[in-house]
Amino acid sequence: MSESDPDGAWSLVLHGGARAIDAADRPRFAEGCLEAARIGEAILARGGSAVDAVEAVVRLLEDLPQFNAGTGSVRNADGRVQMDAAIMDGGTLAVGGVGTLEGFRHPVSIARAMLDATPTLLVGEGARCFAEAIGAERADPMQEAMPDQASAGCDTVGCVARDRHGHVAAAGSTGGLAGKAPGRVGDTPLPGCGLYADDAMGAAALSGDGESISRGMLAARALFALADKEPQAAAQAAIEQLSRTGGEAGVILIDPAGRIGIAHNSPQFSMAIAAHWLDTPRADTHVDDLKEWLS
Ligand code: GLY
Repeated sequence: MSESDPDGAWSLVLHGGARAIDAADRPRFAEGCLEAARIGEAILARGGSAVDAVEAVVRLLEDLPQFNAGTGSVRNADGRVQMDAAIMDGGTLAVGGVGTLEGFRHPVSIARAMLDATPTLLVGEGARCFAEAIGAERADPMQEAMPDQASAGCDTVGCVARDRHGHVAAAGSTGGLAGKAPGRVGDTPLPGCGLYADDAMGAAALSGDGESISRGMLAARALFALADKEPQAAAQAAIEQLSRTGGEAGVILIDPAGRIGIAHNSPQFSMAIAAHWLDTPRADTHVDDLKEWLS
């Protein structure tokens, strides 16, 4: 696909976390994913960029309290809320990430601003100073985090997209694991672990047990598997790595042509897809219920 083909194929897949979700709560998770997919669809269908789409999708998910990111972030062992987020542009290989960020509404947009900075990851005080310098919107997650921890165990939100111009991007945002040690950074902002994007390889984003995802380098594994596998088999191959480390996770990916793969070993994985071949976005909480729409 060339830069000058505004009628090119586009697609997007997003997730709202790999976890067990009570049957009664599944519609709420699927509806949140669907709402986010519509935002991404609107951007990509009119020829907008994959980076804009994944940021906008994740911003919406950060505002929905059922998801463990932004407003719905779970608390550390000490009761504080510390968030990680990242975004990667597959056209330039620019990466921006923040870790253990406190007190801001949209960590993914701070990560987006990092795409133009030299560091690929800032944590703690460095992340806070950067966010203040760009005038990022503040929020008080200590007040706004769900008091009943409705999102506890619901791990991470993420999105990958391929735009009409042939570029891919990936983004993720999370409050991390409920009760985690203060200062702990998970897989979400680590390139090759929680996400990766390269126009020549595709894009992937993970959710689940961050330590297991990082040990298995699962985003990289999923994309390398695309060299000789179909997207669905490549996603599955990445998840099978968890047999070596243990842990639950889910992966979403797109190949350079925008074909979609999704796999998870968690009981549920809330997700949605939007693509040029669909008349409307589709959402569900298990990959088996979305398979017929994947390509
Ligand atoms: N996957 C998110 C985390 O472990 O922090």
